[in-house]
Amino acid sequence: MNGDNIHVRNCTEVEEFRAFVALQKEVWGFADNELVPLRIFSLAPKIGGQVIGAWSGETLVGFAFSIPGVRNGHAYLHSHMLAVKADYRNSGLGRRLKLFQRDDAIAKSYELIEWTFDPLEIKNAYFNLERLGAVARRYNINQYGITSSPLQGFLPTDRLVAEWWLKSKRVESLLGSGQLPAVGEELQIEIPAEIYEWKANPGTREKAAELQLRNREQFLKAFRQGLACLRYGRGDDGSGVFVLGRWDEQWSWAD
Ligand SMILES: CC(C)(COP(=O)(O)OP(=O)(O)OC[C@H]1O[C@@H](n2cnc3c(N)ncnc32)[C@H](O)[C@@H]1OP(=O)(O)O)[C@@H](O)C(=O)NCCC(=O)NCCS
Repeated sequence: MNGDNIHVRNCTEVEEFRAFVALQKEVWGFADNELVPLRIFSLAPKIGGQVIGAWSGETLVGFAFSIPGVRNGHAYLHSHMLAVKADYRNSGLGRRLKLFQRDDAIAKSYELIEWTFDPLEIKNAYFNLERLGAVARRYNINQYGITSSPLQGFLPTDRLVAEWWLKSKRVESLLGSGQLPAVGEELQIEIPAEIYEWKANPGTREKAAELQLRNREQFLKAFRQGLACLRYGRGDDGSGVFVLGRWDEQWSWAD
C-alpha cells in the first residue's frame, strides 16, 4: 500500500472513535466484553493519553492508543494498543504511528512510553527492539488471563514490558543514524519459526506452552541478574532471538 495518502493525526471526536473500536475488533478478534470501549477512547485524550489515527480518506487503517500512568512519582504513557489493518502492514505505517506518538509525547513533556508485548511474537519483538529502540527488562506472567484472541493460541498471556525512553542515546542514535549502539552480549533466548503453527493447532499447543514456560524462566532469571533485552536477531527461516546484555544508560524509575 502507498503510504503517501495516509494521514496520521490525533483524534478527538466520538464519531472517529467508533472506527477505533471496529478496527480493534478486526485486528485482535476479541469478544465484545474484552474490547476497549468507546468511552475509554473518548476519555484518554482528556487525561493526557493519546488516540492517534492513521486515515486513508475516511477509513481508519491504523492506530496507536495510550493512557497515562505514574511510577514513583513520574508520569509516563502506557501504550495499550498499536494496530495496522492487515493490507497496510509491512510498509512502515506501524513505525510512523510510533514516531508520531513519540513526538506527541515529548511535546506533552513525557520521557517514557511503555507497552507490553508477547515474547512469542517474532515480528513484534523485532519491531520493538530493533526498529524503535525499546528495551525490555521486566516480565509479567499471564497479564490478562487467557483471552479469546486467536493470536494468543489460548496460552497464558505472558508479556515483556517494552520501555521506550524517548530521549535515550539508544533511541536518538537509532532515529538519527539508523544504528543501535553496540551491546556486550551475555545471553540469547530463542523463538523458533514454528511457534505460530504450534499455537494454531490443538495437537501441538503443548509444544508452544513448553517453550513459553522454558523462556519465561530464562527471562525471569536474566532480569534478576540485571540483564535487559537490547537487540533482536532474525533468522532466514523466520525464527527470532532475543539478545540480552547490560544496558549502559541510567534511565529507570523502577523500585
Ligand atoms: C505490529 C504492527 C502494528 C506493525 O505494523 P506495520 O505497519 O506492519 O509495521 P512496520 O511496517 O512499520 O514495521 C514492521 C517491521 O517488522 C518486519 N517484519 C514483518 N514480518 C516479520 C516477521 N515475521 N518476523 C520478523 N520481522 C517481521 C518488517 O519487515 C518491518 O521491519 P523493516 O522496517 O525493518 O522492514 C502490525 O503488524 C499489527 O497490527 N499487528 C497485529 C496487532 C499487534 O500485534 N499489535 C502490537 C501489539 S499491541
